[in-house]
Amino acid sequence: MLNQVEELASKALDELAKVTNVNELEAWRIRYLGRKGNLTQILRSLATVSLDKRREVGARANELKNSLDTAFNEKKAELESGSILISGRETLDVTLPGQQISLGRLHPTTQILEEICDIFVSMGFQVVEGPEVEWDYYNFEALNMPADHPARDMFATLWVDFKDKTGDRPMLLRTHTSPVQIRVMEKTPPPIRIIAPGRVYRYEATDATHEWMFYQIEGLAVDKNITLADLKGTLFEFARRLFGEDRKCRFRCDYFPFVEPGVEVAIDCLVCRGAGCRLCGNSGWIEILGAGMVHPEVLRRLGIDPQIYSGFAFGMGVERIPILRYGIDDIRLFYSNDLRFLKQF
Ligand code: DAH
Repeated sequence: MLNQVEELASKALDELAKVTNVNELEAWRIRYLGRKGNLTQILRSLATVSLDKRREVGARANELKNSLDTAFNEKKAELESGSILISGRETLDVTLPGQQISLGRLHPTTQILEEICDIFVSMGFQVVEGPEVEWDYYNFEALNMPADHPARDMFATLWVDFKDKTGDRPMLLRTHTSPVQIRVMEKTPPPIRIIAPGRVYRYEATDATHEWMFYQIEGLAVDKNITLADLKGTLFEFARRLFGEDRKCRFRCDYFPFVEPGVEVAIDCLVCRGAGCRLCGNSGWIEILGAGMVHPEVLRRLGIDPQIYSGFAFGMGVERIPILRYGIDDIRLFYSNDLRFLKQF
């Protein structure tokens, strides 16, 4: 008889687990706990067995009845509330909204890089990359800045302590993306039209406007008959596509050893549109890039005849653009990995 009780227990619980609605639950209740139910019948038949047996079986049958009652009530609560019982007390309410999964997103620098690259690619430029650990030769020497050239002071350089087989070839973390120009011209005969995005490094104390690592995009076009007018047209078009059709651009003389003439390009201030405000330091203009006509000496040393070919080049800081666009007041926010900042883009 005890066996019968145990069997009944496991069968009842198995069946209860399969119950999915209140009608089935009611049928189950009648089958096991009802007046004519299986359990009631066992309890009734106890009258016919010996006193010892009756005690033993009776106790187990009562235990079973209690646990079936509890299981029944839990199942009933579960079906009525739409929640699923996980263990004794914990319930999972399937009607509650799920936890939102936070999706990753592109870093603001990556977003702006893609935007800039798209503009130049649509004008026929090809995207190339160069190494971040660079030889002095590409970063300075081949760009018309020999070892004692004062212009090297513009670039606070992080040197890499490395000597190769040839002995004295100083190595550094590139201070700008301009060395990619040299690497391209060295390998590719004109016509050349490339842009080179990437990280650059400066040995700089960081503050709201300085980072020791940031991004630049370099551009280079070399062909027959390239003039300053091509440079101007390309960069004006770029500025208008990035900052809006009605943007004004300003070209002014500037000096970079690897271009002649060198220019600086500015756009009218995004905040005051030229009237003068804090963002533009009251000048009405905001500088966005350096550029110029590739120095004939740079071409000549790479075996490109400056009598036949000419070219223009430009280079710009990348973070500066979202800084201007969104009024970000600290460049360090870009690479300090604070999700509260990054999630806004
Ligand atoms: N490499 C320069 C810098 O980091 C920017 C630059 C100026 C790049 C003039 C050019 C250029 O290609 O023609 O300050």
